[in-house]
Parts: sequence; structure tokens; C-alpha cells
Amino acid sequence: MNEEDRNYQIKQLKQDTKLLKSIGINGLYIQKAQRDKILNLLNDKKSQDSFKNLDEIRIAVERCERCPLHKERKNTVFSRGSAMSDVMFIGEGPGKDEDEAGLPFVGRAGQLLNKILEAMKLPIDNVYICNIVKCRPPQNRKPTFDEIDSCSHYLMGQISFVKPKVIICLGATAAEGILGTKERIKDLRGKFFDKYNAKIIVTYHPAALLRDPSRKKLVWEDMQLVMREIGQ
Ligand code: URA
Repeated sequence: MNEEDRNYQIKQLKQDTKLLKSIGINGLYIQKAQRDKILNLLNDKKSQDSFKNLDEIRIAVERCERCPLHKERKNTVFSRGSAMSDVMFIGEGPGKDEDEAGLPFVGRAGQLLNKILEAMKLPIDNVYICNIVKCRPPQNRKPTFDEIDSCSHYLMGQISFVKPKVIICLGATAAEGILGTKERIKDLRGKFFDKYNAKIIVTYHPAALLRDPSRKKLVWEDMQLVMREIGQ
């Protein structure tokens, strides 16, 4: 669940409790599953608010055991680039090379992303690169909804400290994690969405470009929109 949805649900919960109190109901029986859900919601909010800086988030990620992905990881994968950047790239999750290096986008897809950055004349120090999940899913499968949800408060923390002007979602998982939509890339790309005080754009993942190079042209069109937005 992203920060906006979480805040909305907490607000609803507070309003409902107030309403019940106003008609004289001070206690309720809540089923265990529902109670755990509410406690998780409140605890997530607390831990998200309690990060003081990106280093604290990085350390929390290194120790994280919130979802089963921690069991097989060699390294957690937090970020690459600079936290002072206006541009943030978000991928899906670490692959084999990233799991070994502890850095995002260092494998084949990463080499292609580096070429895209070069074409945009954006040095690595001018961008911040991270992923939706910070541990490698086995066999590079797509992370599950619960895995994305468990990791989302780290990503929300990264966004709130970096404060990017533009966020580029690389692929469908990043679009799902950031925009909360399962729409196809072809229907999402080519335009900006407003969220997290940033302009969000969705484009194809570099791995998809390796499979189908004809999409490079479309990614380049999206990156030109980004360059215009940041005055590059
Ligand atoms: N693919 C991703 O989505 N992220 C990485 O870090 C590497 C490959």
C-alpha cells in the first residue's frame, strides 16, 4: 500500500471511531485478522514517519525480514546515484547481478539504462536509481503484491527524502507500485501523472528493450518528455 492510500485509510479509521464514540459506542469486538491489519497499518505509518534520513532507511532495509524475499538474498539492493537528484528511476527488483553487487541496475538491463542516461546527457550523479523491492525475487520472478506492499514504506521514504521532480517508472511493476494501476505500459506511457509532488512517467523496462529493440524508439520519446520537463 502506498503512503497516500495508507494515510487515507488511517483517516477513515479515525473518522469511523469518532462516529462510533459520538453515539456512545466505546468498545467493539474486532476479529483477529482485521485487528492485525489495523495494527500493521498503524505500525507502518509509525516506522515510515520515524526514518530521519536515507541512511536510516538503508540500514532498516539491510536488516529487513518483512517478507520471504529476505531468505534467499545475498545482498539488499538500495540505490545508485545521488540523493540530490531531480530525476528518480524506479525498476522492479534486483536480478542476479544486482543481488551479488548490492547495487541496482548493474547487469545487462543496467548497461542499457546507462546508455539511455548517456543519451539524455545525465551523469549518474544527477539521477537516483532504485527498485520497488529491495531483495531479489527467486528466478527473477515478478514480486508479489504482498512483497511490493511490505517494501513500499522504504520506497516511500526514499521518495520523501530525495524529493525528485520527475519519477520514471521502468516497467509494469514500477507503475503498479507507484501509481497503483495494472494498466499496460502502452496505455500509460507518453504522458505525466501527478503524484508525490512529482511528475510521474511510465515507460518500458530496459529488459523489455533487450527482448524487443523496436520499443527503444518509444522509450526515447518518453525520455525526451523528461528532458523537456527538467529543462535538459
Ligand atoms: N531490473 C530491475 O528492475 N532492477 C534492477 O536493479 C535490475 C534489473
